[in-house]
Amino acid sequence: MGYRSGEKDLEIAKEINVLLPALSAILSSKFAETFQALGLSRELGDVVISQRPDLGQFQCNGALAAAKGLKRNPMEIAREIVDRVRDPQTFKEITIANPGFINVNLSDSFLAEYAESLSRDGRLGCLPVTHPQKVILDFGGPNIAKPMHVGHLRSAIIGDSLQRLLRFLGEQVTGDIHLGDWGTQMGMLIDELKRRRPELPYFDAATAGEYPAEPPVAIAELEELYQAAYARAKSSEEEMASALRATVELQQGRPGYRALWKHFVNVSVEALKKDLGDLGVTFDLWFGESRYQDRIPKMLEELKAQGHAQWSEGALVVHLDQEPGKKKIPPLILVKSDGGYLYGTTDLATIDERIKDFGAQRLLYVVDKRQSLHFAQVFQAAKATGIAENARLEHVAFGTMNGPDGKPFKTRTGGAMKLKDLIEMVTAEAHQKMSEAGVAEGYEAAEREDIAKKVGIAALKFADLMNDRTTDYLFDLEKFTRFEGRTGPYHLYAAIRIKSILRKAEEKGLAPGTLLPPTDDERELVLKLCQFPEAVRGACANLAPNVLCEFAYDLAQDFSRFYERCHILREEDARLQASWLALSRLCLREIEQILFLLGIPIPERM
Ligand code: ARG
Repeated sequence: MGYRSGEKDLEIAKEINVLLPALSAILSSKFAETFQALGLSRELGDVVISQRPDLGQFQCNGALAAAKGLKRNPMEIAREIVDRVRDPQTFKEITIANPGFINVNLSDSFLAEYAESLSRDGRLGCLPVTHPQKVILDFGGPNIAKPMHVGHLRSAIIGDSLQRLLRFLGEQVTGDIHLGDWGTQMGMLIDELKRRRPELPYFDAATAGEYPAEPPVAIAELEELYQAAYARAKSSEEEMASALRATVELQQGRPGYRALWKHFVNVSVEALKKDLGDLGVTFDLWFGESRYQDRIPKMLEELKAQGHAQWSEGALVVHLDQEPGKKKIPPLILVKSDGGYLYGTTDLATIDERIKDFGAQRLLYVVDKRQSLHFAQVFQAAKATGIAENARLEHVAFGTMNGPDGKPFKTRTGGAMKLKDLIEMVTAEAHQKMSEAGVAEGYEAAEREDIAKKVGIAALKFADLMNDRTTDYLFDLEKFTRFEGRTGPYHLYAAIRIKSILRKAEEKGLAPGTLLPPTDDERELVLKLCQFPEAVRGACANLAPNVLCEFAYDLAQDFSRFYERCHILREEDARLQASWLALSRLCLREIEQILFLLGIPIPERM
């Protein structure tokens, strides 16, 4: 897909002539030439960031691979490569480690030059992808009138970060919330309202006419209505049957029910837009499952005609072959024996639209890992039926945010936590922590409130994004909101501290200047800064925002160590001071860029 930061990047960079390739791309190219000069394949020259920083900054493992093919001693090949690749301007030292690893340390002047060009580059060295693709990112996925649960929250946070990341690298991303707006909960709601207010015009089966433009319920009432409706439907078979009847009537198009349904959707969407907006999460499309209901019959006809769908025990199914090396998965049911469609039927029709009508080349589904089987079935069916012949379909699965009881996080009373309440809760904890740490002391109440909101959001999002997304984690508000360690607030603090150093310098009339070759005090920080493009690529290639979190943390730590040793504002050597300011400014830009990619806004000051 062109995410690899190999030699190709260098060619693109030369072509465009302004953009900057990643360090590993530049080094790969040098090594590739050497391998080629020895009659070996260029690919062997791939250079990556070292797994063993104690041995070198970068490493090349090509000699090992070459030796296998040639049945030669890898140490010997490594020696030949190293003898030829010598270039004192670029390399400080190149060493060989058993059984044939080549370890590379860059010269300080080369590092400084690279960091300098990074700081001049508007994209901080991150080349856009060579072949941008039309990507549809399906995330969020809340259900109308039902409270959002932690799965939806995680999907919104992770999906939003991936949306930002893929866009930053030049992909054409369309985010779609794919609302659950067509399930039995709609029938339950209608049924419940009918009992409470039978006089409303929506329930008069005789009229098909004009209905009020104003919704009959506001969001709070809708939420309460859902809880009552749900409890009632669960209470007995008759109640459930009644809700299901209403659902069927709605789906068959009874005008009053459709009008009511539209109101429920609008009221819910308005509230969702507000809550998700407060979280900083946006969608291009607010499509829902209902959108595809008209498309389904035609799709089913085609699938039957082509022999892709078969009747089996009264249900229409797509049989799925066992894929080599994988477990056999059950057939995808498209039509139940009672004639109803299922979740997967809608998803298949959605894929059809996304590919046929929107020209999507890649579909990403940011959904709870507990839906893995569902997506495996839908994707395989989409491939087998030719609906998604050439498109890439990926389930970007994630684990659960658990409460202290080890089960998916809920409110103290056992209900799903409303997003609004959750944000309020983290904001309150942020206030508390700010007071303890003396943050934003003496600021006006309005600014303090704004800062607390941002601290709270940073806490929530960073905690959600910092782990490998497939792992479960524990909701621990006290830990998430701390101002030190791997937390959102720590990174806000890190950014703001650098901002304030730069501001103080400016007030003293000092400006950032040319970067000087680093000494032992700065080298770690400079090297880290130079590896920013690799971090962004790595995050993108694996759809893994945690790579960015990890990088931001290292950067903040490296900056702290640097700042302990180098007293920027008190330095007397003006050139050195200007270089340090430039380093600080670059560090700030990288941290800011990462926080932006994570969807974490930074307050002006703290
Ligand atoms: N509404 C679904 C749920 O709550 C999530 C939708 C995910 N997207 C999809 N295309 N299936 O589980």
